Amino acid sequence: MDTTVLTAPLIPPAPKVHPRPLGVTPLGQLRVALEMGRSLIGAYCEEDYESLAAPYMFMGQPGLFLNDPASVRRVLSSPKYARPVKAARSLKPLVGEGVLMSEGETWRRQRRSLAPVFTPAATGGLLPHFIAAGAGLTDALAGKDRANLAQTFHHATLDAVLRALFSRRADAEGAILADLARRYMEGPAHFNLFDFMAKGADDLTFLDGERRRMGARWFKAVDALIEERRRNPHPEVLDMLDRLLAARDEDDRPLPDQEIRDQCSSMLAAGFETTSRLLFWATYLLALDPVTQSRVRAEVAAFPSERVASLDDLKVWPLLRSVLFETLRLYPTAPMIARQAQEADEVLDCPVVPGCQITISPWVMHRHRKLWDAPTAFRPERFLDQAHPWGIEAFMPFGAGPRVCIGAGFALAEAQIVLASLLERFEVAMASDRPVIPRASITLGPDHEPEFVLTPIVQARA
Ligand code: HEM
Repeated sequence: MDTTVLTAPLIPPAPKVHPRPLGVTPLGQLRVALEMGRSLIGAYCEEDYESLAAPYMFMGQPGLFLNDPASVRRVLSSPKYARPVKAARSLKPLVGEGVLMSEGETWRRQRRSLAPVFTPAATGGLLPHFIAAGAGLTDALAGKDRANLAQTFHHATLDAVLRALFSRRADAEGAILADLARRYMEGPAHFNLFDFMAKGADDLTFLDGERRRMGARWFKAVDALIEERRRNPHPEVLDMLDRLLAARDEDDRPLPDQEIRDQCSSMLAAGFETTSRLLFWATYLLALDPVTQSRVRAEVAAFPSERVASLDDLKVWPLLRSVLFETLRLYPTAPMIARQAQEADEVLDCPVVPGCQITISPWVMHRHRKLWDAPTAFRPERFLDQAHPWGIEAFMPFGAGPRVCIGAGFALAEAQIVLASLLERFEVAMASDRPVIPRASITLGPDHEPEFVLTPIVQARA
């Protein structure tokens, strides 16, 4: 691979953009469904990257494709909109009725009960777990000169989430969960034609057998984790599972077993695949941009990851953090957010009827030609001058409003530490020139898992 110093900014690979909208005719709509079944970001056309709001009809159902950041924030904050009933089709087999899918009072209660697990103080307390996960990752890579880092990050982020939420290592059950989650995201999580045609969660479910079978195996593995804790309870509350087991409702009754299981499943499903993808894309970008990679390495060499003792310490790596934000801009690992109107509304002069689906694509919004300078270029510096990236209205990798990702602080702290651990020990480059194209189901993964070439830092300096 050519590693000459790049003078022009890196434009990382992306799927082809269709010159014109595909879905105007019935045949075109079928093509959109097939393209989106392969990859949720596969059907966008040139004008999507310029429009702020575009009403559409798809398979007989009304929708609004929305990119205007202020309107997106309003929709995500308004009680007039809920998660689409159809989202349950591909998500529910993994998360049941947990916080990801619940609505109304149940959601409020569930979100409240999880809040203490995700405060900055609680996340600060998890740093040793993240450092251990980073050390585990580099130990696993020791002595290797090539590695499939997509798999390595999968294991490391599962390890971090299991340690933090369940005080467990990614051992036997963990390996089963990682394998199931990966196969689910690559297979049944993708929308099929009937998902697009169906009006609700429970009609046209002919092709859902694999989802149900894999979901049942997933729940069995999560049940095993909970069962094990019931047999060997902690003397005090140490993790999220302890909190859920100790929680009592207004009538002082423990939470039903199914709710505990569904909450644990939601955290696992939401918590490791997304962060593992973030680490993968960040490492890919740094492998393509060796100059930025060595600048980040200089930052972490000055303050090695094992010294991180508080969230404040992470401020010593501003470029590393900006690389992660720029990665989330170019490769938002949750690339699609959808809402369904519960009542009539108007958004940016477009009438919204009850049932209308609002399609929000962080993928398109983050590459929108009217919202960003050099939208397709990898330029981490754009985040360096920002006091806070959340001040950038068009930057929404974690969503917005009351249902904004509860694990954002967790994910960012973990990703900084794990990426720092990797860069402290290895120089990374790609083993081949084959471009890695993003492909989306629920998360944004690579179209293939490339090999990375690893050069130990000590050896590189010798
Ligand atoms: C890079 C990593 C991550 C990204 C990009 C991400 C992205 C998102 C987005 C966009 C949403 C909002 C979806 C919507 O509004 O429909 C969300 C919700 C959620 N995320 Fe994350 N997430 C990440 C990591 C995590 C982690 C580490 C956890 C937990 C350990 C987590 C737990 C959740 C939960 C429980 C929700 C649902 C919140 C609710 O509905 O109240 N996420 N995430």
